[in-house]
Amino acid sequence: MVSGDKAFPPIAALRRDFLWGVSTSAFQIEGAADEDGRGKSVWDTYGERGDIANHDTGEVACDHYHRYREDVALMQRLGLQAYRFSVAWPRLLPEGRGGANEKGLAFYDRLIDALLAANIEPWLCLYHWDLPQALDDRGGWTTRDIVSWFADYVTLVAGRYGDRVKRFATFNEPSIFTLFGSGMGGGKRDRTGVDTLHRAIHHVNLAHGAAVDILRERVPGALIGCIHNVQPALPSSAADQQAAATCDAYWNKAYPDPQCLGVYPEQMQAAIEPHMQPGDLARIKRPLDWFGLNHYSPVYIKADAGGRLGFGFGDKPPGTPVTAIDWPIMPAAFRDTLLLLTGRYKLPVYVLENGLGNHDSLDANGAVFDNDRIAYLRGYIAAANDAVAAGADVRGYFVWSLLDNFEWDQGYSVRFGVVYVDYPTQRRIPKASFDWYRGLIAAARSRA
Ligand code: GCO
Repeated sequence: MVSGDKAFPPIAALRRDFLWGVSTSAFQIEGAADEDGRGKSVWDTYGERGDIANHDTGEVACDHYHRYREDVALMQRLGLQAYRFSVAWPRLLPEGRGGANEKGLAFYDRLIDALLAANIEPWLCLYHWDLPQALDDRGGWTTRDIVSWFADYVTLVAGRYGDRVKRFATFNEPSIFTLFGSGMGGGKRDRTGVDTLHRAIHHVNLAHGAAVDILRERVPGALIGCIHNVQPALPSSAADQQAAATCDAYWNKAYPDPQCLGVYPEQMQAAIEPHMQPGDLARIKRPLDWFGLNHYSPVYIKADAGGRLGFGFGDKPPGTPVTAIDWPIMPAAFRDTLLLLTGRYKLPVYVLENGLGNHDSLDANGAVFDNDRIAYLRGYIAAANDAVAAGADVRGYFVWSLLDNFEWDQGYSVRFGVVYVDYPTQRRIPKASFDWYRGLIAAARSRA
């Protein structure tokens, strides 16, 4: 074991077949936004409108569309067993429905074949926020029609890649793209009030259930889950308990509860009822094989009468350790979340995102000694080990992210990668955390 700040965390409780991976998403790394027939997504539109920090866009991103072989080689160097990526709906169906784009389909053939050749298991996420603009123009997640549009897209993906891909996630963080897209933060893209949010919640859950049925039918041996951002919603003060409970319902339970338990949190049942049709809950609650968890930190919540759901972000306790982007560093909350999920949903948990957002820069020698990221990863992996020792069923850990990439509203101003991307040249420069993670994976995989 390496001493000092490169020390590895305790992992003795983790299964011998524990899966080590990294995660990315299409819009955040691919680029080639207008290439080979790709259609526009809502995030292309946000970029064109200048909504993103520094007027950044996803036009080039990490140029992964062209550099994917180099990136798979980096994954191989890490000794990864698995790679979670997403398929861009508008790259396959430029109008979101109708005619498929063969060049878009062929890109993911190349990527999947390169992963399999490198003995890396592809974990395919069907939806990571890049809704085709043409479908948003028709109401997007607020119209029930999207369930059939999504079903057609999933049928296309299952038929094309189901011979080589068995691990499928239906959605990435449904609570985040609905809350921040149309309901809590009054985001730039917020359309209307709370009713839009409740319709979106229900339609995303219906689309999830439809996708599970299609994958079960068309992909023999499919192992299916959904990826949720679950982060304890803590009250900033005693007076904020109710607000924190409401946030917990919408942020952490609005999707896993109906999908796994067949019931919506009581805070939203009356608001969703008008959008329900007979049999909907059974359409949503379909058998799953695993629970995907994205987790970074707890969120502190305060009552906010001006917020559409009566809550907003509150103050953290003084002295809370935070990252460079002000996210609390609290491995104990991660441990508790892993135990809570095991008890509540009784599914194997795969951590599909955990990592440190930072303002990394190259030193005089062109290197990045991101010891703070190493310390963060070590603390959180140690917490996962503690959780397993206490009975949590955790079977994998995927770092967010392989590469620095497009961080949504913050553009390229925040870096999460274990590999530094020098955007002007697109050079990939492994950081100290890359070597550390490689060493940890080697040590973990060499255990008897
Ligand atoms: C999310 C997304 C990722 C982010 C990462 C850091 O959780 O917002 O799944 O796309 O880039 O989590 O914020």
